[in-house]
Amino acid sequence: MDRTTQSRADFGFEHGDTLLVTGAASGIGRAVALHAARMGLRVSAWDLQAEPLATLAAEIEGAGGEVMTVVGDVSDETAVRDGFAALAETFGAARYLANNAGPPSSIPLEFDEAVRISVGSVRRMTETWAASGLPAGAAMVATTSVAGNLVGTESDWYSAAKAAVMGYVRHLAAHRAGEFRSNAVAPGMTDTPRLAGFASSENGQQILGRIPLGRMGSPDDMAMAILFLLSPLGAYVNGVFLPVDGGWTITQ
Ligand SMILES: NC(=O)c1ccc[n+]([C@@H]2O[C@H](COP(=O)([O-])OP(=O)(O)OC[C@H]3O[C@@H](n4cnc5c(N)ncnc54)[C@H](O)[C@@H]3O)[C@@H](O)[C@H]2O)c1
Repeated sequence: MDRTTQSRADFGFEHGDTLLVTGAASGIGRAVALHAARMGLRVSAWDLQAEPLATLAAEIEGAGGEVMTVVGDVSDETAVRDGFAALAETFGAARYLANNAGPPSSIPLEFDEAVRISVGSVRRMTETWAASGLPAGAAMVATTSVAGNLVGTESDWYSAAKAAVMGYVRHLAAHRAGEFRSNAVAPGMTDTPRLAGFASSENGQQILGRIPLGRMGSPDDMAMAILFLLSPLGAYVNGVFLPVDGGWTITQ
């Protein structure tokens, strides 16, 4: 964690409340899980990958935090149902949901299937969570992207899916605000395993040269924006699309 994101603040979270984060074994989701635990939240950490998820859990527990893990595919109906059943048995309902998991833009996916996975998983997680008996003050944040919403990417499905997730967030913010707040964080170029080596590529260097802050984003940068939007400090923020991109997209 660097100096800009190191903080003792708890963002007003009630200690012992639960945050569910998907894609928690790596990158942005992992940073959300670690910061949430430091802020006193119980963490329900979900991912496809068992081993790095177990490493995360050990790290949280080693620092005195509380965590339960769910190994499963958030685009799979049965896995999601089983995951929520396991969560209900351990921590009860989660007040906060970070819909963060999504496939990398670099993998060649068939368009319909990619949209089903990327958008369908966010909807399935949100609907199942909303039906779990939400406490007052519930909130959801989706990790979208500058891609699709502000920048067109090479991958057709990635741009389309990320813009569609934002459309779903706007629907929720307008029509489900009696149950929970909904917002989106749109990372710019972020230093996570899926972008390993990209910054030194020709394309990466071109993008870096256009980012006013002169660096890639870190997982911590994204986690802080996600946690702020979920937290009681963001109590009147509903339906926003928050680019966290060092100013890259205003220079496009
Ligand atoms: N890194 C970037 O530059 C960047 C930019 C814009 C948006 N994003 C978005 O941020 C989110 C997190 O990306 P990251 O960079 O931290 O990636 P990452 O690859 O470091 O981590 C993603 C994690 O999600 C998990 N995952 C993927 N699909 C899953 C599924 N169906 N079910 C359960 N777990 C699943 C993976 O196993 C992995 O652990 C993604 O939605 C991504 O599209 C990232």
